[in-house]
Amino acid sequence: MKQNAERKTQDAERNAQDAGRRTQDAFEPKIVAFLCNWCSYAGADLAGTSRKQYAPNIRIIKVPCTGRLDPIVLIKSFEMGADGILVSGCHPGDCHYRSGNYLARRRWMIFNEMLQFIGLEQDRVQFSWVSAAEGGKFVDVVNKITEDIKKLGPAKEYNAS
Ligand code: FES
Repeated sequence: MKQNAERKTQDAERNAQDAGRRTQDAFEPKIVAFLCNWCSYAGADLAGTSRKQYAPNIRIIKVPCTGRLDPIVLIKSFEMGADGILVSGCHPGDCHYRSGNYLARRRWMIFNEMLQFIGLEQDRVQFSWVSAAEGGKFVDVVNKITEDIKKLGPAKEYNAS
């Protein structure tokens, strides 16, 4: 009888610990990744065809060039439930449209300053250069932003949903 009671208590404690762990691990961020068609999208494709594993939290949106990306689209993504945003394009000097990636970087730097003003942490929007030959780098970038956003938790401040 006494052993049964002890076992039940231990089971209850274990279940409570498991539930706590599940709650901590349960947050799976939604990350919108705007990838330029010519480099980063091809890098993501290479990661996939090379069967590299990476965090399944990103939703990829292919854009012609990162220079074409309006900051309003980033704000809208947060409004629609994104917890983080990745913008990734060609390396400096490799932009298919010559200077789109420089434009994007400039915009991102200004946008980054604005993030705190609108109540979002700066790590929620990240920018990277990934070429078509860098499937491994793409994996690292995705895993890093996923871990960063998991640490920050859900984006509540600007989320209208
Ligand atoms: Fe890739 Fe411009 S074409 S960033």
